[in-house]
Amino acid sequence: MKQKKAIITGINGQDGAYLAKLLLEKKYKVYGVIRRSSNYKLHRLDYLGIKNKVNYYHSELNEFKNIEQFILKTKPDVIYNLAAQSFVQYSFGNPSYSFDINFDSVLNMLEVIVRNNLNIKFYQASTSEMFGNTNVDTQNENTMFNPASPYAISKLSSHYLIKNYRSSFKKFFCSGILFNHESYLRGIEFVTKKIVHGIVNQYYGNGSCIKLGNLDSFRDWGHAEDYVKAMYLIMNAKKPDDYVVATGKTYSIRDFIKAVCNFIGIPIVFKGNGINEVCIDKRNGKKIISVDKKYFRINELYRLKGDPRKIKKNLKWKQKYNFNSLVEDMVQREIDSHK
Ligand code: NAP
Ligand code: GDD
Repeated sequence: MKQKKAIITGINGQDGAYLAKLLLEKKYKVYGVIRRSSNYKLHRLDYLGIKNKVNYYHSELNEFKNIEQFILKTKPDVIYNLAAQSFVQYSFGNPSYSFDINFDSVLNMLEVIVRNNLNIKFYQASTSEMFGNTNVDTQNENTMFNPASPYAISKLSSHYLIKNYRSSFKKFFCSGILFNHESYLRGIEFVTKKIVHGIVNQYYGNGSCIKLGNLDSFRDWGHAEDYVKAMYLIMNAKKPDDYVVATGKTYSIRDFIKAVCNFIGIPIVFKGNGINEVCIDKRNGKKIISVDKKYFRINELYRLKGDPRKIKKNLKWKQKYNFNSLVEDMVQREIDSHK
């Protein structure tokens, strides 16, 4: 059988690296698009042992001609579009840049496929951020969108583009509406990695008090390894469609801190309220975490909890990790990296 070819944009990000590993295991030839840089960050692919198994292509995704030539030359069976300005906080200060990468590049790639009448399946990395603050307990594929950041609006525009092009041009274009998913390979600017990295560093004696923003927001956290399997199932379904990928459970930032300390064996207590809240190591009174208004969002998304019943029923998606095993995996790998 002919070897299948996959293009992954954002291959050096958290999901890109895990997805590349999965597709290589499925015997795909994997092409990874990365932007030009003076310092190529391939550490995640290296960590997973696949750095030298990927064919890299350097491109700016919003350069239409360049990306068109690459797609025409590569002739992939599938494109997984994971590249994005993915940090919500940053999008408030850099909205047009966020739109350039999160919307324009999607439009470019869909246009290449449609104008050249190519038979390429396309996966778009949509996000639970598109729901924003809703008045429903659990968000599913039919929940109304109410995006709360430029990031979420740029992603929602692409989400609608996928829907529109799918029905207009009868193409296999689909979106996974993924809720937060984490791992040891998560970027340090995101709250879970910041907490795990900071607490483990303190445990080994070389870290200072971690400054965080809102400890009262809730997220539905899963493991990236499980979520890239969902992407693969979505792209191999009989029909193109959009799916929510979530665990169906939600925890606060404070819950996440408690789970990390519990796994390491640090007894803690939270004291004070709001901006004056601190988390203290009960054994020595040392401040582990304090609150700093610098890390509060201009517009916060307070609570997310997804309903994964559609993907579980239709595509038989299963999770290996729950909240506790996710935390344990992140902490253990962080500890191992110190050793
Ligand atoms: P990530 O670790 O931040 O990776 C983002 C990737 O996009 C990186 O490879 C990055 O490359 C690339 N990228 C950023 N700006 C770019 C640009 N201007 N041109 C080309 N590439 C650029 O994100 P992730 O967690 O793996 O998420 C993957 C995708 O899923 C993103 O689209 C994200 O928005 C979406 N998503 C993530 C989650 C989640 O919880 N992780 C949930 C829902 C949706 P550099 O290394 O060069 O910056
Ligand atoms: N990053 C960060 N840093 N967040 C903090 C901090 C802090 O110091 N303190 C509190 N938080 C709160 C944020 O206010 C937010 O409510 C929550 O922690 C999660 O923030 P992030 O980890 O930055 O993730 P996110 O939910 O904003 O966005 C992630 O998930 C989305 C899916 O829902 C990203 O991966 C997005 O790309 C993704 O679409």
